[in-house]
Amino acid sequence: MASIGKPLDRVDGRLKVTGAARYAAEFPVSGLVHAVLVQSTIAAGGIAGFDLAEAQGMPGVLAIITPDNAPKLRVKQSSEQMVKAPLLQDRAIIYNGQHVAVVVADTLDRALAAAARVRVRYHAAEHVTAMDAVLHQAYVPTHFRNGERSPDSNRGDPAGAFDSGAVKLDATYITPVEHHNPMEPHATIARWEGDKLTVWTATQGISGAQKTLAGLFGIDPKQVRVLCPFVGGGFGCKGNTWPPATLAAMAAQVVQKPVKLVLTRAQMFTSNGYRPRTIQKLQFAADAGGKLVSMRHDGISQMSQPVLGEFVEPVGLVTEMLYACPNVAVTHRLVAVNAGLPTYIRAPGEASGNFALESAIDELAVALKLDPLEFRLRNYAEQDPHENKPFASKMLRECYRQGAESFGWLRRTPEPRSMRTGGMLVGWGMATSTYPTNQRPAQVRVRVAADGMVLVQSGTQDLGTGTYTVMSQVAADTLGVPVERVRFELGDSTLPPAPVSGGSATVPSVAPAVLAACQAVRAKIFDLARGDAQLGWHDVPAEALRLENGAVIAPRGSVPIAALLARAGRDAVEAKAGVALEDSAKHYSRHAFGAQFAEVLIDPDLGSIRVNRWVAAFDAGLVLNAKTAHSQVIGGITYGIGMALLEATQVDAETGRIVNATIAEYLVPVNADVPDIQAIFVANDERNSNPLGVKGVGELPMVGVAAAIANAVYHATGVRVRKLPIRLEDVLV
Ligand code: MOS
Repeated sequence: MASIGKPLDRVDGRLKVTGAARYAAEFPVSGLVHAVLVQSTIAAGGIAGFDLAEAQGMPGVLAIITPDNAPKLRVKQSSEQMVKAPLLQDRAIIYNGQHVAVVVADTLDRALAAAARVRVRYHAAEHVTAMDAVLHQAYVPTHFRNGERSPDSNRGDPAGAFDSGAVKLDATYITPVEHHNPMEPHATIARWEGDKLTVWTATQGISGAQKTLAGLFGIDPKQVRVLCPFVGGGFGCKGNTWPPATLAAMAAQVVQKPVKLVLTRAQMFTSNGYRPRTIQKLQFAADAGGKLVSMRHDGISQMSQPVLGEFVEPVGLVTEMLYACPNVAVTHRLVAVNAGLPTYIRAPGEASGNFALESAIDELAVALKLDPLEFRLRNYAEQDPHENKPFASKMLRECYRQGAESFGWLRRTPEPRSMRTGGMLVGWGMATSTYPTNQRPAQVRVRVAADGMVLVQSGTQDLGTGTYTVMSQVAADTLGVPVERVRFELGDSTLPPAPVSGGSATVPSVAPAVLAACQAVRAKIFDLARGDAQLGWHDVPAEALRLENGAVIAPRGSVPIAALLARAGRDAVEAKAGVALEDSAKHYSRHAFGAQFAEVLIDPDLGSIRVNRWVAAFDAGLVLNAKTAHSQVIGGITYGIGMALLEATQVDAETGRIVNATIAEYLVPVNADVPDIQAIFVANDERNSNPLGVKGVGELPMVGVAAAIANAVYHATGVRVRKLPIRLEDVLV
């Protein structure tokens, strides 16, 4: 009956396709009124005043909240209570699109109509939105990785080794501003009952939302209940508690009614972060034998104004650990512009940094006249060269081997423009993927009832990734019941706390806690059985017992759990367990790995680029569900194709306004842009990171996609494109 690893359908699939799954904006809270945001039309300066008479006179208007009348919040800057953008606490303007007022009315239409009549007078100051214009003002981050390490690292003598290298590369790679576009926009319903706040909000972290809102409103976290049973995609933009959630709660406080606030698609470009533009200068050198002797990776990423704190796109972290090179230097710098605060977006740092790193590796391989895969193998890191620790496990060699074999990599002819099909140029490119196995403390409660139903609860999230399903599988297998007998509950801050669903950490953090809690409840059931007078199993060791189909099985006989409970006069057995697996990080460097193989077809006359074929092989540790894991791979590679060929946020320098804040003009891949994706998960039974051997698979499949495509574009055309997205005009020569 083992379910782990099987391609089970989602346990919540029926709820989703029938519309019964409720998302944040859909809760039928009675007496709801509606809030609409008013946003700045200038990019720097301040608010001179508001003319509100016309808007206030509109039908149904309940309140217009501005910095002049907004309740004061306890704005603090700490890792748990980052404010992320101004919250109507003063009149300063630091970017175009910043929220300057909230209009609340009895219906959404009336709120929208009144918001359109709010007049804001500004005094504009000079703004700068292009980081390239102020690169000389680059500064050193002060809270890199929460202050746990320096933004710079150095091992060996990168400068000296670069000078002595036989083959050298000195190149700059650029990645653009990219915005998350989950299908579900951010949404919040907030309701106060006295000094108790309930919010239904689209979030990747209910615990974080609870703490942040409690901190801002000066109440105890226990007075805040956050509910979020379903999320329609997050990708990082729902990882923090951004202003719209807080402003909904503020509006509900002001009007003393429950308030709903849903971002428009355009507001998704101004209100919950983005991937910052990066400029990455790489200086790599290899010896004549194809060994990397020096790697230097200097990254600069866009920041908002420092008053909002700090976000660094950590582009150099993969460069530190991926190859066995003795001389490596990495730096991270920031450049402040008049834009909102950047944030995490699928593989923040890894995806953008890997584009530069794995393009540069390809360029060096070309210069060395080595096959790009062979070059990577010659520089394979057997242990983490940055942390000087063994990897918990690293099946990357196997990923390269199985991926290359399945793709047919050996049939590649190295010369650019040497492969064709029909009238098209064929390009084959590859890149390495890696993503850390992030594990954070999580708690889980399990209840096995006399009727055989198992209730498992944890305050985690399901972003659409399959949390409900895979956690149910872990519980089912541990307790010897079919998955249908397990109900997994999440998305409620009254449940045992779990970490933010970010950094691909949900499975590695929560699944081991589910295992631990189910093992604890199993031990209690075994104790009941061994203590049961009728059975006479006192001398049977617990190790000789197992659970199967709602019964305890012993070497001499079996007993239904229901009977055991009845005789003990109980209706259920419960246990709660928490795991904190940080200890394994002391001994091991914990990473997932992968190899991406891309085939592109390029029209030699038109320059149009199609991704035609994809093979990817991953070491993601134990795969809990083959179907949901494959879906993650499809999603990640699709996201990577968007990064490589389509996505870029455009800002009008004159006004500082984002001009393509729609998914008609901010291009994301559609079905026609995505080929059939073949995903291989290589076997790995390592248990060094956690007792299940899970590594997480949310971000891994996106890493390396952009570089594999850029490398394939070079192979097809002979044109090396060092900026994203790669457009047809880049390859027309
Ligand atoms: Mo992910 S960018 O950590 O939601």
